[in-house]
Amino acid sequence: MPPYRPIAIPGSEITPESVYFRRRELLRLGAAGGLALAAPSFAFGATELAARPGGYDPDEQVTPEADATSYNNFYEFGTGKADPAAHSGEFQPRPWTLTVDGLAGKPAEFDLDQLLAFELEERIYRMRCVEGWSMVIPWIGFPLAALLDRVEPLGSARYVAFETVVRPEEMPGQRGVFQPLPWPYVEGLRLDEALSPLTILSLGMYGKTLPNQNGAPVRLVVPWKYGFKGIKSIVRITLTEDQPVTTWNRSAPSEYGFYANVNPEVDHPRWSQATENRIGGGGFFGSNDRPTLMFNGYGDEVADLYAGMDLKANF
Ligand code: MTE
Repeated sequence: MPPYRPIAIPGSEITPESVYFRRRELLRLGAAGGLALAAPSFAFGATELAARPGGYDPDEQVTPEADATSYNNFYEFGTGKADPAAHSGEFQPRPWTLTVDGLAGKPAEFDLDQLLAFELEERIYRMRCVEGWSMVIPWIGFPLAALLDRVEPLGSARYVAFETVVRPEEMPGQRGVFQPLPWPYVEGLRLDEALSPLTILSLGMYGKTLPNQNGAPVRLVVPWKYGFKGIKSIVRITLTEDQPVTTWNRSAPSEYGFYANVNPEVDHPRWSQATENRIGGGGFFGSNDRPTLMFNGYGDEVADLYAGMDLKANF
């Protein structure tokens, strides 16, 4: 079992070498947060992305926003890549309540303004889908550790479980005759993974609040894991002692593990994971294929979490 780790993270330490990020000022967000109540989406302000040396291939370009918002997996709106953008227009991400409970000294509910009041940062992360494609996305969010810190995890907490909203009236994929997955969509992390400075709750992307198809109003981003860990439109986060059930692991346990760490050496039973296709990215000689990196390139930050573990058995 992973030991419970202290959560207080000095600002200087939440800047991994392989991440570009820009810290935002709370004051400006206070103003923007007010706007969120009135407008369907709002801009967080002009983004100024600074390239950080080391660990990140400068040839990697941020994925065009049009691609990141039109090629999605969000089965609550349908199983096709174009379905979430086409069929999420009825979804109402405001008002919103995120409940954080379970093995916590101070379980709490957070509305959207309370979430927006966390110290938001922009993080440009490489994202790798288990299906073999990847993107580079400028997220806006805050470390999940900051939220968990508020509710004071008990010493018995070992895992964190996440749950997506169930609203068949607003989510066509939840009311069809064909139900591709059991609802709610659920995910989980080991507590030490959840407390990694790389793990964020995202409220926005490309300088604006999240579009519905990308998981409005709040979703998880874990950049060293396959995309299905990034559960969208979260209504509940629960600290648990036992490893939580996760949607894809329950649906196809031989294909999707609990850990789901990006690993070019562990193939999916039906396809190789050694390379990936970068959506909208200019590769060499017209190909967008590139080698997949261990832990999606974030090994310096996260490999220690798995010291001594057999990553083929714990895929
Ligand atoms: N969350 C919910 N609730 N439902 C889903 O179907 N799909 C997952 C993940 N989160 C999914 C979800 C998968 S398979 C991927 S690859 C990512 O969302 C895609 O995120 P994106 O559309 O923002 O790129």
